[in-house]
Amino acid sequence: MPKHLITLTVNGHPYEIAVEPRWTLLETVREQLGLTGSKEGCGTGDCGACSMILRGPQDERGRLVTSCLMLAPEADGREVLTIEGLARNGALHPVQQAFIDAGGVQCGFCTPGMIMAATALLERNQRPTLDEVREGLAGNLCRCTGYTKIYEAVTTAARRMLEEAR
Ligand code: FES
Ligand code: FES
Repeated sequence: MPKHLITLTVNGHPYEIAVEPRWTLLETVREQLGLTGSKEGCGTGDCGACSMILRGPQDERGRLVTSCLMLAPEADGREVLTIEGLARNGALHPVQQAFIDAGGVQCGFCTPGMIMAATALLERNQRPTLDEVREGLAGNLCRCTGYTKIYEAVTTAARRMLEEAR
């Protein structure tokens, strides 16, 4: 199948990538760029393991997408944030740190997607209630934790981020 060139900025790095029209954003990022933090759980938009954040003029605050459902050409010209792009200067993002501290990680398969969903939520809403946290993570499935520690991690991250911003 003929490939065509798209441009993506992934975690701040610009790329030109030759893609087949049927390739998803997830497989392009994982297989062409070697960024394997985003996982393929279901491949049908149901588990959230592949979640990434897209930015651009139309999505100033970042839009959470299930990258298994998005074709790579649809992301042409966009900025993409994956789990690999969250840490800054060797320090984990507050959401990553809170997941560790709260024990919100067990097997870890859902964790990158959960953290991206939580990050997108906290960009939109700095003081989410527990119900809003549940709602913000409703598209992300976890088979291990029972969710309580994940919700605790998100509220902890929200509190710490507010304290840091003061
Ligand atoms: S892999 Fe499950 S939603 Fe994308
Ligand atoms: S920690 Fe195993 S699926 Fe969530």
